Amino acid sequence: MPPKVFIAKPVPQAVRDYVGKSCDYEMWNEQRPISRSELLDRISDIEGLMVTSLISRIDEELLAKAPKLRIISNISVGYDNFDLEVMKKRQVLGTNTPGVLSNTVADLALGLMLCSARRLSELDRFVKEGQWNSQISEAEFGYDVHHQTLGIIGMGSIGLEVARRAKNGFKMNILYFNRNRNNSAEEELDARYCDLPELLAQSDFVIVLAPLTKETKHLIGSNEFSLMKTSAIFFNISRGGTVDEEALISALRERKIAGAALDVFSHEPINKDNPLLQFPNVITVPHIGSATMTCRNEMAMLAAKNLVAGLKGENPPNLVKELL
Ligand code: GLV
Repeated sequence: MPPKVFIAKPVPQAVRDYVGKSCDYEMWNEQRPISRSELLDRISDIEGLMVTSLISRIDEELLAKAPKLRIISNISVGYDNFDLEVMKKRQVLGTNTPGVLSNTVADLALGLMLCSARRLSELDRFVKEGQWNSQISEAEFGYDVHHQTLGIIGMGSIGLEVARRAKNGFKMNILYFNRNRNNSAEEELDARYCDLPELLAQSDFVIVLAPLTKETKHLIGSNEFSLMKTSAIFFNISRGGTVDEEALISALRERKIAGAALDVFSHEPINKDNPLLQFPNVITVPHIGSATMTCRNEMAMLAAKNLVAGLKGENPPNLVKELL
């Protein structure tokens, strides 16, 4: 009997066909995201689950409802939804989709950098609202991006792609802070490894790309914002939880930094009354790092390959390192 699998979001036909060759699958086929309780109702006899880090936490409650589950294949690079201890205890494998999204997320990072430094969304509104009545004044000026210093917190494969674009395209000077040294970044791009306080103090643009873990929760808080230049622009493209959002709001109110661009938030979708939505110098986008059709399709296919390999008893290519 082929193993039963549940795919918790719609994926392309080619991905379904791939899974269908070795598994008996069902798929959530609504555009509305599946709720936690709907997910819990669908998993009692499955051996494999394809999900995203944003759909559901993989915890004791979920695993208890799916006693046959052998592998969770995230269609995302982040796996902060995995309760790694519980998965280890129950010997459930967990995989993610690194690599295939690095270029797409890095493109967004550069887009946000240009957009915030040159105030593109503010000034687009300025024109459309009929405020462009004479020559623009210094009030509409932005900041240069080229030749500025970019501080990257989290130099994995996305960080490296951001650094490449910044260095090769905009001649930026790269600083980075990471658990480990990144030789490619240092040799190829002359990136300089430094500690977090130094990176914060010296960077014109500070970008967080580190995954959310126990160690990185609220990595950036009021103390860190105080260390930044008042002209610095702050970016979060990792997970909302890496930043203390209240501290970010205070830093913006007190003009400790010049602006921010955010793809991720402490609560998603963002609450309509979140003060971050009130700042003209804050760009907000709805967690779109990997949101292009090509990239999402590649992620789904990679997740399917991980899933099928795990169910066949092979080593899935992207087993998360904590569960190796
Ligand atoms: C997106 O946020 C991902 O983790 O892939």
